[in-house]
Amino acid sequence: MAQSSASSTDTRSTTTAGTGTGTTAARPRSRSLDGRHVVVMGGSSGIGEATASVLAADGAEVVVTGRDQARLDAAVGRIGGTTTGRRVDGADPARVAEFFAASTRPIDHLVLALSGASGSGPIAGLDLEQLAAGFDGKFWPFLRILQAALPHLAPDASVTFVTAASARAAFPGTAGLAAINGALEAMVPPLAVELAPIRVNAVSPGVVDTPWWNNVPAEQRTELFAGISATTPVGRVGRAEDVADVIRLLVGNGFMSGTVVECTGGANLATGR
Ligand SMILES: NC(=O)c1ccc[n+]([C@@H]2O[C@H](COP(=O)([O-])OP(=O)(O)OC[C@H]3O[C@@H](n4cnc5c(N)ncnc54)[C@H](OP(=O)(O)O)[C@@H]3O)[C@@H](O)[C@H]2O)c1
Repeated sequence: MAQSSASSTDTRSTTTAGTGTGTTAARPRSRSLDGRHVVVMGGSSGIGEATASVLAADGAEVVVTGRDQARLDAAVGRIGGTTTGRRVDGADPARVAEFFAASTRPIDHLVLALSGASGSGPIAGLDLEQLAAGFDGKFWPFLRILQAALPHLAPDASVTFVTAASARAAFPGTAGLAAINGALEAMVPPLAVELAPIRVNAVSPGVVDTPWWNNVPAEQRTELFAGISATTPVGRVGRAEDVADVIRLLVGNGFMSGTVVECTGGANLATGR
């Protein structure tokens, strides 16, 4: 395991308030990301980009990856801070291995936000080749990236998977996506124990308005989002920033591990129907 140059208790403020146990010992109150090395795989768009923006604004030195150089350059410009872009196809084992092997300092926080968009549709007509492509675009890259990253993670690193609420909801037409994301979510608790003290968590978003939906024609997309908003307790679909805020929590909270946090606006709550 690589050694971190930064302490695991990178706190900047303390308190002398009582803890409820009669002690007045100082305890950590906040966790700055100043100088922390963060890698966001799939960071040139949508949730990954929003996450990189939040983490960079908190002082992290962020590396975002994606497959398209122009998209990466544009995202790096929008994210600001100390951010760099690297072209890496997460589905290409050689490129993934090369990327991590070139890492010159321990990675403090790893966020996996990439995915293809294959594997959805009613089961009766679901093309299993497409479902396999869905696994190739998300499930296998997540595992491959995690394996390749492990020797380069700081001892107190965090790993955050971006999964999907389809894993545990019951939306018709999403059984394939449930399989891909459910498989990833099922791995979070055992990984958190196996890899400790490295923390492993996931955020499980509902429908979020990002370029992931660009293959749906604009008019149809507007209609779809309006329908989903109408049946979602918070009355809207998600924004990439909503999910990024959850990832910021998972990255910064040293007492969270093995957790899958839903971020759905309540869209997947059981209605009792
Ligand atoms: N949007 C939603 O409604 C929603 C809901 C639930 C879960 N999610 C999950 O959230 C995650 C992020 O999705 P998003 O909505 O932010 O999508 P997005 O806007 O399309 O962003 C996906 C990012 O991943 C990169 N990427 C895709 N395939 C890659 C590969 N093989 N290697 C490297 N980079 C790759 C993309 O860049 P390039 O294409 O240039 O490589 C882009 O930076 C995905 O895992 C998705 O399944 C999304």
